[in-house]
Amino acid sequence: MADKVVLAYSGGLDTSVAIQWLKEHYGVDVITLTVDVGNEKDFTAVKKKALKVGAIKAIVIDAKDMFVKYFIFPALQANALYEGQYPLATALSRPLMAKLLVDTALEEGASIVAHGCTGKGNDQVRFDVSVHALAPNLKVIAPAREWGMTREQTIAYAKKHHIPIPITVKSPYSIDENLWGRAVECGVLEDPWVEPPEEVWTWTKSPTKAPNQPAYIEIGFEGGIPVSLNGQEMDGVSLIRRVNEIAGEHGVGRIDHIENRLVGIKSREVYEAPAATVLLQAHQALEAMTLSKDQLRFKQKTAIEIADIIYNGLWFGALNRDLSAYIQSSQRYVTGTIRMKLFKGHSLAVGRKSPKSLYSLSLATYDKGDKFDQSAAVGFIHLWGLPVTTQAQVQLLSETEGTEEPMSLIATKKPRKRAKPKHVPRPRKK
Ligand code: ARG
Repeated sequence: MADKVVLAYSGGLDTSVAIQWLKEHYGVDVITLTVDVGNEKDFTAVKKKALKVGAIKAIVIDAKDMFVKYFIFPALQANALYEGQYPLATALSRPLMAKLLVDTALEEGASIVAHGCTGKGNDQVRFDVSVHALAPNLKVIAPAREWGMTREQTIAYAKKHHIPIPITVKSPYSIDENLWGRAVECGVLEDPWVEPPEEVWTWTKSPTKAPNQPAYIEIGFEGGIPVSLNGQEMDGVSLIRRVNEIAGEHGVGRIDHIENRLVGIKSREVYEAPAATVLLQAHQALEAMTLSKDQLRFKQKTAIEIADIIYNGLWFGALNRDLSAYIQSSQRYVTGTIRMKLFKGHSLAVGRKSPKSLYSLSLATYDKGDKFDQSAAVGFIHLWGLPVTTQAQVQLLSETEGTEEPMSLIATKKPRKRAKPKHVPRPRKK
């Protein structure tokens, strides 16, 4: 009996060719697995195509809820943004797909899993590392990394084997989509000087064509997770979809990024992530109200670390687990509502409220009701500045005198005569 392979199947050209190629080069039976992470395609058609091209079985799993619960929302709670720009949509979906590939392989008695990634990108790393972590005994094959065919040769191979060529093949772009965002690369985008042509954007309206009136939306969070939109409770998948639509309509969520790939190259990536953009902003606005300064500072550093972990394919590593425990703990009071204003490509948090808010009007106000003791500031400033005054007297004032360095300004003029100690008036007793 032939060995079985479970192939991650998108229905596109490469993975369709991979079905035939795996049979031919490895003599295996191919089971395809298509994971629905909110890519809005016709999954029945994808399944049919897999069988037509030669798979012995075609499986489709609706993983949207899982994707949101275990990947998107934890990343949102962490404020994970790779290099401060990319909300990690593709990167987050890969460990989930790897997990489902492994589960399916074990169920189907397959000893191999396969995916359609090339040898130049990040996704191969994410798939391979995740599969090896979850099931070290499974072999991983990446046909497109091995076959050495150019785009034209792949198309010729498809024609030869009567594999239907999707119309999207004519598009110069390589696109990946899921609930959390859309990634576009290749074609004219490879020239970093060229502005992305309007045609690459399909989820977002051009800000110049966006409505002339702003939209306001209210996002309710519980423990750092968005649970309602405009006062209406919603499951995660519906909420993200809806925010994608509303924010996209206002041109919010376009990203143009020169990105550092794990394999050492810089690449130009264009993303559309309306919901991710708005929800990340709203979440951070709520954290600004409900976390202490120290927590916020520390969490910012953790966000960079977690984004790197996700990007670099280390989702199933121990550090992700450890940091996720910290993130969960940090979110216990991140509950409340944020009002976002969306207008012509911009989004802004313009209102916030929380039952656990640390913002205190009686401390912040300059009007009546002020409870802040201003006289306490004097002693505080004395101690706060003590190291600076000490060091200035002992070292810096003389050290910088007569030099050209920027700090030389702190050297003060010497008093002409020895000045008499000044009479310091004391406040009158009341
Ligand atoms: N550069 C992104 C990443 O590594 C997105 C890759 C998506 N692929 C695509 N065909 N556009 O996560």
